[in-house]
Amino acid sequence: MKTRRLGTKGPAVSAVGLGCMSMSQAYGTRNDEESKKTLQRALDLGVTFLDTADVYGEGHNESLVGEAIQGRRREVFLATKCGILFGERGRGLDGSPAHIRQACEASLKRLGTDVIDLYYLHRKDPKTPIEESVAALVALVKEGKVRHIGLSEVAPATLKRAHAVHRITAVQSEYSLWFREPEEGILPACRELGVGFVPFSPLGRGFLAGASVQRDTLAEGDMRLGLPRFQGENLKRNERLRAALAELAGAKGLSLPQLALAWVMAQGAEVVPIPGTKRVRYLEENAAAADAALTPADLAAIEAALAANPPSGERYSPDMMAWVDRG
Ligand SMILES: NC(=O)c1ccc[n+]([C@@H]2O[C@H](COP(=O)([O-])OP(=O)(O)OC[C@H]3O[C@@H](n4cnc5c(N)ncnc54)[C@H](OP(=O)(O)O)[C@@H]3O)[C@@H](O)[C@H]2O)c1
Repeated sequence: MKTRRLGTKGPAVSAVGLGCMSMSQAYGTRNDEESKKTLQRALDLGVTFLDTADVYGEGHNESLVGEAIQGRRREVFLATKCGILFGERGRGLDGSPAHIRQACEASLKRLGTDVIDLYYLHRKDPKTPIEESVAALVALVKEGKVRHIGLSEVAPATLKRAHAVHRITAVQSEYSLWFREPEEGILPACRELGVGFVPFSPLGRGFLAGASVQRDTLAEGDMRLGLPRFQGENLKRNERLRAALAELAGAKGLSLPQLALAWVMAQGAEVVPIPGTKRVRYLEENAAAADAALTPADLAAIEAALAANPPSGERYSPDMMAWVDRG
């Protein structure tokens, strides 16, 4: 597996990571045994940049990852996140120093480790100045509990304020062939500051992977049932985009998910996607995308396909949009 550096001075990680969220929530049903096999296979393939969060499955995901990497912790670059509440305190955001400290201790315990390689604030908490949240993360770095600090879905202005307190190693934001908003703000800001950029949902939550996402094939509780892009006319229009991209992928000898991953990786050397899956077969397919190179002609053909079939619908429902930091 090739490696990439998270930003200009950041650590080297596997060029393709593994998002672990769907092993515990969001898309389809859990299968812990298959998920653990997927995690083991990831390490065998050198896919060692693992992404979890305390909120995924309300702690289930961190415990699962912790169990699967037992005895292999040194091979892993382990990223997790805090700041979205779950459990008794209900849903909400908390980036207060007290919460960050308590959340970190709980994550370390579930992950079965004494240090987190990359600890993200999952969302900026509007009630807590970002400087205070970052200072709490810095304290954890000083204590050796965290190696690197990250932020998720922040606006460029928030990143700049945070980076003035302490070096931010990576920003994680949604970025894919069908969601390119980062190009207008956070991606150039990361470049300017030498911060790594980690696209989440690089496969459009499965839509750009060819998995069946028709409403009647999604299990009850699948979060995509509530996302505008997976509904009605939007879905129909988006199917046309998917078909156009699938054709380009086929002509290149790639699968659609491989094309989608190769495309985000072609946007800059500091871009390290974390496609999510709970299945060995998908993991292997996605890992192989690290070796897929797109030519300028391929990239131009993709631009033309996107221009002819622009993605339709908001990426989030209004309640999820309310949590996105606007700076
Ligand atoms: N910071 C944030 O706020 C945030 C938000 C969302 C996600 N994330 C992180 O980013 C990671 C990736 O994002 P994501 O999981 O939302 O979306 P994604 O990577 O765009 O897509 C995941 C979906 O694609 C399917 N899939 C994966 N590879 C496939 C393949 N080769 N062929 C067919 N289908 C395939 C998966 O199926 P199966 O599940 O059935 O394997 C899953 O349903 C998450 O796991 C999580 O760690 C972070």
